[in-house]
Amino acid sequence: MQIKCNVLDRQFQMHQSEYEEAALRVLRSGWYVLGNEVEQFEKEFAAYTGRKYCVGLNSGLDALIMSVRALGIGAGDEVIVQANTYIATVLGITENKAVPVFVEPDKYFNMDAEKIEQAITPKTRAIMVTHLYGQASNMTLIAELAKKHHLELIEDCAQSHGACFDGKMTGSFGISGCFSFYPTKNLGAFGDAGAVVTDDKEFADQIRMMRNYGSRVRYHNEIEGLNSRLDEIQAAFLRVKLKYVDALNSERRKLALAYDNGIKNAKIILPKVRCGADSIYHQYVVRCKERDRLQEFLQQRDIQTQIHYPTPPHLADCYRHLGHKKGEFPLTESLANEVLSLPIYTGMTDTEQQYVIEQINQF
Ligand SMILES: Cc1ncc(COP(=O)(O)O)c(C=O)c1O
Repeated sequence: MQIKCNVLDRQFQMHQSEYEEAALRVLRSGWYVLGNEVEQFEKEFAAYTGRKYCVGLNSGLDALIMSVRALGIGAGDEVIVQANTYIATVLGITENKAVPVFVEPDKYFNMDAEKIEQAITPKTRAIMVTHLYGQASNMTLIAELAKKHHLELIEDCAQSHGACFDGKMTGSFGISGCFSFYPTKNLGAFGDAGAVVTDDKEFADQIRMMRNYGSRVRYHNEIEGLNSRLDEIQAAFLRVKLKYVDALNSERRKLALAYDNGIKNAKIILPKVRCGADSIYHQYVVRCKERDRLQEFLQQRDIQTQIHYPTPPHLADCYRHLGHKKGEFPLTESLANEVLSLPIYTGMTDTEQQYVIEQINQF
């Protein structure tokens, strides 16, 4: 049996006629970028996240870059970010010439809130928190710290659509909740897409202007903007998927539970969920000291796995100029050597999952 790490066509097939109908509706409408579908999706997604405004964009990275820019954070400013996040989080900072200040993760793979205060300097302007692998970060403490130190709070929710902390949606704690709708995400489009959600009208207006060359009125450019517009066809697809995202998340939770209960191998450390947080299991990430051997063992049995992420941002070639050294963030670096994401996707069958579990238990 061949098991892929991710299978995307099954969720398409599950609601195929609705997606096809949405595509045809847009194709026949004669309007393809920033139109009625985008407006409707923005309303629906704002309501879903419990925020007043949503601005649809081209990607999750754009949501991060534009949030930092709209807050006036730039050269000389520092932004606190977790060291084991995906590089895109950090690019959101450095694209604005601001400096990322890395904080080690906790045992839930999220930013260790206890270590934030020691990273704050007079130059700190914001905390950018990633709800990594789908689990909400320790938001009560992080939001409190942001407030206490007068810092902006930006949430990278690229992996956490629908995940909550203390019953409150990720993306609703800071001034900006940044979402990616890349196809593999729990709420994934069929191409690139992203969004910012916020309760701040002025901030939403800035992002809306920025996404369209910096103009509210055509050919009147108030700020130096970008082109980060959301396509009508992606918005129409997202409107379909949004109706099912909670069900899709529940399915992943069930798959995660089956891994939790089924994997019995002393070499493997299973993921933990913090009290008060929940996870939508964008990834199901285990740890293993012999990670590379485990990955190879599974590959030989036709089971694909992935590593999120093999190189931490502070050691990425593109950030050599930041001057970080190997060993500087030991927890992050050991995670990079130990984490392994197991197959988890919509429509994964019991037979497929049992095969993965059996093989892992034989390792
Ligand atoms: C944590 C995180 N942040 C940001 C992004 C960027 O999103 P996009 O690919 O839509 O630009 C991703 C995408 O993989 C991500 O996983």
